[in-house]
Amino acid sequence: MNIVNTIQEVREQVKKWRMEGLTVGLVPTMGYLHEGHKSLIDRAVAENDRVVVSVFVNPMQFGPSEDLESYPRDMDRDAALCEDAGASLIFHPEPSEMYHDDFSSFVDMNTLTGGLCGKTRPIHFRGVCTVVAKLFHIVTPDKAYFGQKDAQQLAVIRHMVSDLDFGVEIVGCPIIREEDGLAKSSRNTYLNPQERQAALVLSRSLKLGKQMMDSGEKDTKAVISAIRSEIEKEPLAKIDYVEIVDWNTLEPVETVEGPVLTAIAVYIGKTRLIDNFIKQ
Ligand code: PAJ
Repeated sequence: MNIVNTIQEVREQVKKWRMEGLTVGLVPTMGYLHEGHKSLIDRAVAENDRVVVSVFVNPMQFGPSEDLESYPRDMDRDAALCEDAGASLIFHPEPSEMYHDDFSSFVDMNTLTGGLCGKTRPIHFRGVCTVVAKLFHIVTPDKAYFGQKDAQQLAVIRHMVSDLDFGVEIVGCPIIREEDGLAKSSRNTYLNPQERQAALVLSRSLKLGKQMMDSGEKDTKAVISAIRSEIEKEPLAKIDYVEIVDWNTLEPVETVEGPVLTAIAVYIGKTRLIDNFIKQ
């Protein structure tokens, strides 16, 4: 496995693979890899001849008061995980390699990005779309892998690919959790032991919501209110949002019909965590 820092090196490698007739999968990440990322890499390795993992903490998707500086990084551990999983190449660029001084073009979206996480993170999805579009142009993968952990991101990327005719198949992968239910996230490292325990309220409250829907509850207000009450029982938790939306349009729905996404964002202390489930 190779680690490269420049766009040109990626292009040269991919060109060689293409000349051999090999297929290429891409797993975009911000590093500090865990089992959730590994599940994407494993799937990509199973479905493609060669796999590129990008490790880039993308400054463009962080707001001014967010955790860009403190975002955890460990390139040696990431490289070992990618190598073990069977990836062929890590693309690990500096911000200056991705954004030159007079950079001024963006990929933005009028729908899907205003609600859920977009409400408190107004520039986030513009940053995500722009960097993912760049990665697609650099790597030109056949397939790219995204986790349902970031459900809004997955929906936004699918929409961008359809709108802008990227010839890339987007593969959505299930949420990987700790044994006690907490969705794996690089940001879980911010939690102290007390907060780590309190963070279980996310998966617990969603389980309750899912049980209600599974036993026939169609009124989204009732489900939202039950989830909110469960979260409010936890003194360290502060709700950012609890929403139930159409899984394709991400517009709020009143009735559970067709695929719906139930998504929550909750502060545990200073750390903002997200989790969700989709009911088909
Ligand atoms: P990052 O948070 O590093 O996540 C990279 C990919 O791993 C995303 O597709 C995310 O949904 C997936 N992932 C994270 N935790 C997961 C879990 N517990 N189970 C399953 N999948 C999980 O998302 C980003 O980076 C960035 O926004 C990026 C797409 C790389 C653009 O900068």
